Amino acid sequence: MATYLVTGAAGFIASKVCEYLLAEGHAVVGVDNLNDYYDVRLKDWRLSRLLGASSLKLGADPRKSVYAGNSKSITHGWFSFQHLDIENLPALDALFCGQKYDAVFNLAARAGVRYSMENPYVYLSTNTLGTLNLLECQRKYGVKKQVLASTSSLYAGCPLPFTEELPVNTPLSPYAATKKAAEMMAYSYHKLYGLDISVVRFFTVFGPAGRPDMSIFRFIKWIDEGKPLELFGDGTQSRDFTYIDDIARGTVLAAKPLGYEIINLGGGRNPINLQTVITFIEKALGKKAIISGQPFHIADIKETWADIAKADRLLGWKPTVSNIEGFQRSVDWYREHRSWLADIHL
Ligand SMILES: NC(=O)c1ccc[n+]([C@@H]2O[C@H](COP(=O)([O-])OP(=O)(O)OC[C@H]3O[C@@H](n4cnc5c(N)ncnc54)[C@H](O)[C@@H]3O)[C@@H](O)[C@H]2O)c1
Repeated sequence: MATYLVTGAAGFIASKVCEYLLAEGHAVVGVDNLNDYYDVRLKDWRLSRLLGASSLKLGADPRKSVYAGNSKSITHGWFSFQHLDIENLPALDALFCGQKYDAVFNLAARAGVRYSMENPYVYLSTNTLGTLNLLECQRKYGVKKQVLASTSSLYAGCPLPFTEELPVNTPLSPYAATKKAAEMMAYSYHKLYGLDISVVRFFTVFGPAGRPDMSIFRFIKWIDEGKPLELFGDGTQSRDFTYIDDIARGTVLAAKPLGYEIINLGGGRNPINLQTVITFIEKALGKKAIISGQPFHIADIKETWADIAKADRLLGWKPTVSNIEGFQRSVDWYREHRSWLADIHL
């Protein structure tokens, strides 16, 4: 049995990574600052499941988590959660001082591309400084392995399909720039101090309990509620969507010793465009979308497509859930939880 530290544990991807690690029989310490970038009740829902709450603890305030404000950890089985900010070095140091971790899964981040133009400072302080804090603690306490979450956004302007060898020096958003900085900082710590780093670049992750600032969640809710669906551009922009369970499985596999490697975790299929996604959700819900056209956003990439040969070679990883199956599961989850999702702020 290993003990892992997972940052951003209340988040979409990290909560699923925690679930996978626990299912494999490991102990997991999860931390999250529970910020209100999006409705925290989704974070509470995910945490409630990890903490085995018999009834879901959902608060009334979209900005205040019911798990916030408690500096002590809450434990359920082999999972324990602590409300902690990775920007807070003394708090992180105490976390490393009290426990030896086999690896760190660093998934905490400010993750929205568009919001990074409104508040770039918080992106730099969490995504780059927060990562540096973790690397420092790992160096100090001899925790060799970090799996660092990065993004397909780095490939802006690169030829398709995106391979890990491409130079990614033209980030379109502060978000992408801070992720590149985190990758580079991790590289220095690998070279200088021998830390073992797997950078996993995720491609548009979707699935049940997804992020309410991302298209799939919003499209389903808007179409179901008969509200105008905000569509940036003409809907021909396409994404190499990747299902959440495949991403969590690949992230866990990436914890093996590799030196320093960057690995795409993406669908690896021909990307599909947003119009196609909307049509599928319309059919699944039996409702028509009311499209509200918005100008194409300057921080958006027109198309993404992952070359995933390296993930197969190094990790034996390939995605297993098709887009259609994944969209259907997302709609089914939404239907099952419609009563409380009705209150979720977009
Ligand atoms: N979802 C995607 O399609 C996608 C694509 C590419 C990369 N990523 C990366 O994957 C990781 C997880 O993304 P996600 O989609 O689950 O996002 P998310 O916002 O659901 O999860 C991130 C979590 O980190 C927490 N967090 C933010 N700042 C923190 C801090 N300073 N200290 C502690 N916790 C903090 C947030 O509260 C949140 O719960 C991120 O690093 C993101 O950049 C996601």
